Amino acid sequence: MSTIKDYSLAEHGITKILWANDHMDALREIERQFGPTKPLEGYSVGMSIHMEAKTARLALLLKEMGARVYATGCNPLSTQDDVAAGLATMGVEVFAVHGASPEEYNQHLLSVLSYKPDLIIDDGGDLFNIIYNLPREERWHIIGGCEETTTGITRLKACEKLSSLPFPMVNINDANCKHLYDNVYGTGQSTINAIMNTTNNVIASKTVVVAGYGYCGRGIAKRMHGMGARIIITEIDPVKAIEAKLEGYEVMPMTDAARIGDFFVTATGCKDVITEKHFPLMKHNAILCNSGHFDVEINLDDLAKMSSDIYTRRDNIVGYKLTESGKVINVLAEGRLVNLAAGNGHPAEIMDTSFALQALSLLYLVEHQGKLEAKLYNVPNSIDQMVARLKLRTMGVTIDHLTDDQRAYLGMSD
Ligand code: NAI
Repeated sequence: MSTIKDYSLAEHGITKILWANDHMDALREIERQFGPTKPLEGYSVGMSIHMEAKTARLALLLKEMGARVYATGCNPLSTQDDVAAGLATMGVEVFAVHGASPEEYNQHLLSVLSYKPDLIIDDGGDLFNIIYNLPREERWHIIGGCEETTTGITRLKACEKLSSLPFPMVNINDANCKHLYDNVYGTGQSTINAIMNTTNNVIASKTVVVAGYGYCGRGIAKRMHGMGARIIITEIDPVKAIEAKLEGYEVMPMTDAARIGDFFVTATGCKDVITEKHFPLMKHNAILCNSGHFDVEINLDDLAKMSSDIYTRRDNIVGYKLTESGKVINVLAEGRLVNLAAGNGHPAEIMDTSFALQALSLLYLVEHQGKLEAKLYNVPNSIDQMVARLKLRTMGVTIDHLTDDQRAYLGMSD
């Protein structure tokens, strides 16, 4: 029995899912190829991934491939109640409510796990973490799972260092068809979209500080620059800092950037990137947001302690009035990932490739069950290439192929 906010929202949610479906050609192609043979018949899948229309489409694909699917979100603020309701009426058990408290969110994860899924799909590692911390005797046999994002992979690697994983996990994030498109172009476009819709401010002519010049950060910087902003990058990795400098951006520490930024966007996967050291230096009405997975990049506890007044300024914008100076610092979406908590997430065309990797990697785990070790695997190159070719085909793009002579010249055996 699903736990959602309101079934009367289902019709609206279904229209969103159908719109996403129309823009997810690779998933439709996978469904056409694999749907009829039901390769996931008899298997259950537990999902913890942003509960919005594209994810719902993935859940429905898995169901079409024969799986029983149990789904929750991976961040209560990114859950869309209408989509959750729509999905719950389409044969998927859903446990997700927008704005759920940490306790309720945890209960939703536990509800998914109460079905003892054979396979998991995680985004950020919360589902895996619960299983990992269960006493051995309470764990059931899990064939394997897939992790979607950078932060989840960091957590999995930390667990792997301590002891072996309880079952094989596939690293979706590091597949080329994921981080090169989703993290760069998906996060770039959707973060800016969310900032513009939430603030209704002009980007052109403004100074935008992007913390972290990784895949997400470079997408955000590129799109902000395209909108006419001056870009400042903060980094801790000297190699990334040089890349940013060569791209034509200014690079400096956050203590310097804090004084001149109009907008601040964190995308590091690290904590305490903007803290009490920085808030007093900022301009009156500076706008802060985060696109990293967890809401720990901007230290809101610090900010709250330094503020005499905390008040809602617009939907998804909270103003913090600093006690000492009277300056107001604006924070979007409670410091949670802004593109999902205050926006629609990545465009469906972008998630199409990430979710094609998810679906094909689950099939790979089922086909190879019993043969894989309990460790973190990369997505097999054949799947990465297949998804890229699928996507190209759906974009109407063809490319050249190597001749036998060229393959021999490059030393390629097959
Ligand atoms: P990445 O590892 O490619 O980049 C992170 C960058 O931040 C690195 O260059 C690192 O040197 C830098 N960094 C780390 N600590 C820092 C600090 N204290 N100050 C300044 N720079 C620092 O990771 P990626 O793929 O860009 O992901 C970043 C975060 O965004 C992760 O939490 C990931 O899960 C999340 N993410 C969010 C998405 C969204 O839709 N908003 C989509 C994909 C990933």
